[in-house]
Amino acid sequence: MTTPQFLEALLEDRLAAGEDVAPSAAFAAAALDRDDAARERAAADPQGFWADQAAELLEWTRPWDTVLDDSRAPHYRWFAGGGINASTNALDRHVAAGNGARVAYHWEGEEGERRDVTYSELLDSTERLANVLRGRGIGEGDVVGIYLPMVPEVAVAMLACARIGAIHNVVFGGFSVESVCERMDVSNAKALITSAGARRKGKAIPTKQALDPLLEQLPSIETVIVVPTAGKATVETPMKEGRDLAYAEVLAAAEPHCDPAPTTSESPLFILYSSGSTAKPKGILHGTGGYLTGVAWTFRHTFDLKDDDVYFCTADVGWVTGHSYMVYGPLLAGATSVMYEGAPDYPHKGIWWELVERHGATIFYTAPTAIRACMKWGAEIVAQHDRSTLRLLGTVGEPINPKAWHWYSEVVGSGQCPVVDTWWQTETGHVMVTTLPGVDNARPGSCGKPLPGVSVAVVNEDGSPAEAGQHGLLTITQPWPGMLQTLYGDDERYVETYFKQFGAATYVVGDFARMDEDGYLWVIGRADDVIKVSGHRLSTAEVESALVSHHEVAEAAVVGMDDEDTGQAIVAFVTLEGLYETDGADRETLSAELREHVATRIGKLARPKAIYYTPDLPKTRSGKIMRRILRNLVEGKDLGDTSTLRDPTIVDEIAAQVKR
Ligand code: WTA
Repeated sequence: MTTPQFLEALLEDRLAAGEDVAPSAAFAAAALDRDDAARERAAADPQGFWADQAAELLEWTRPWDTVLDDSRAPHYRWFAGGGINASTNALDRHVAAGNGARVAYHWEGEEGERRDVTYSELLDSTERLANVLRGRGIGEGDVVGIYLPMVPEVAVAMLACARIGAIHNVVFGGFSVESVCERMDVSNAKALITSAGARRKGKAIPTKQALDPLLEQLPSIETVIVVPTAGKATVETPMKEGRDLAYAEVLAAAEPHCDPAPTTSESPLFILYSSGSTAKPKGILHGTGGYLTGVAWTFRHTFDLKDDDVYFCTADVGWVTGHSYMVYGPLLAGATSVMYEGAPDYPHKGIWWELVERHGATIFYTAPTAIRACMKWGAEIVAQHDRSTLRLLGTVGEPINPKAWHWYSEVVGSGQCPVVDTWWQTETGHVMVTTLPGVDNARPGSCGKPLPGVSVAVVNEDGSPAEAGQHGLLTITQPWPGMLQTLYGDDERYVETYFKQFGAATYVVGDFARMDEDGYLWVIGRADDVIKVSGHRLSTAEVESALVSHHEVAEAAVVGMDDEDTGQAIVAFVTLEGLYETDGADRETLSAELREHVATRIGKLARPKAIYYTPDLPKTRSGKIMRRILRNLVEGKDLGDTSTLRDPTIVDEIAAQVKR
């Protein structure tokens, strides 16, 4: 099977990287997993394996009737009939066990504020907020939006929803207010929990004020709860009588005890909108019992969690990594985490290492893009802080090039820490493929082997297994507990996207990959039109649709380009309404305007890095835009077959532009 050329080139560099890296003898000797027993056990009886984890790691209010009901495949029901509540598992049971004074989050704000939030405090706020939501008529199955910066209240908001059986729908703080409202609209959200403002590198953005005019057009939102902005910055916060509530006030006035809703294993826990192949984001819906089981087990075993660990994950809670490994995973384990509000280079480029030193962080989890940025800033910056407490490092979100892997291992980890490269997706809910840090050698550039209870295969276009070392489509061949339940409000698209190609028993991931002779997986990149900018998932169609919504744009094609810093960068090809006979200065002004337009429609992360203006786009005779050609063009590769184009000369014209 053929993979796009630009992906091949990426992989070659990684394959050339060389040798395996074994965990140190000391790490392996003390590790949670010291041999492959879990993999063997799970291979023999995957359902039994997951059932044991569910029973051991979680508290159930009612035992399940069936571990896995597959009678309605591809809709799988994990722990069907079981009673379980996510918030009591994350909070109440730790407090009841006498661990209420344990710190859940060492939070630090951009302006140097520090707050330690204990499990007791988190539970108290969660119960109160849950009562406030209930008082506003919100209950099981209702959708509540959350649009907050990285503050502890984001965890409170999620857990308060879980407590009363409401479905949280968190939107990443980097998305624009227009995106937020679109996601509230399509999910028919009844309430929105947001902040007065958001701080970003010393500036405060008046979030609530910007949301207000759009909220007027969303009649389903009957309640808006406003968390104050932390720090010195004051932002104007108009409040609408009857709809808007001030977080601190309503919490203080609320009843302190809140009985959890009798949620079940299958109660939907959250929706997370994520990009797919079309302009319309997919509402990935996760349930409770299976999701929590997968997250609880993988959090412990991927990170080799010990009682005295201090865990630091730099992800934003608005992405799935934040959901699974900043909120649910750590809290289910009763772990202590570091949560940082600010950007990695604010107030200075060594802030992460300063936080590691101050809190004695032992586990650090970030994205390859961030590692590459730190590489650029220099090892000296890392070296200024004591990182001797670190004992394990992790990465997620995109392939990591071996150079960055080794730098991470040597500079950040001083050669002492295993590095786990974790492969998973919003859809999978939890880590699926990685190295078990005390058992497996790491192979830089490969993310490792399927975890126990996870079964993957690389297949050819016709579904036959690809030979070892050969490229193909990555599939998951047996249900796993954290799998999405469906796409919210679009079940047809769920079946079509993931299970149409090879049937109800085979989940199609959407990645190209290859498996080597030792069973190590090498993920090459997306097989669809999803691009990863700094590990953030975006669809080319979304950006195209934002561009064409600008009055001067007639057509747009967007491709991802290999980028040293951000992994991939967005390049746009635009044709304009009418003739475009202007000079360079005008184009620059227009480009700036278009970039701003995309920022407003989607968010700053989606702004194209480069925009080219062309009289037409390369299209087939039936009018389909051939992005492959554009991609090869920007990558400086051989263009491939252009004979199917309606007007092959257009390619030369575009090529001349790109060259310029
Ligand atoms: C990619 C992020 C290589 C992959 C948790 C996947 C990776 C998509 C890795 C999901 C990794 C994630 N190595 N590629 N370790 N982790 N990916 O939904 O293409 O934002 O399909 O979930 O990111 O992105 P998502």
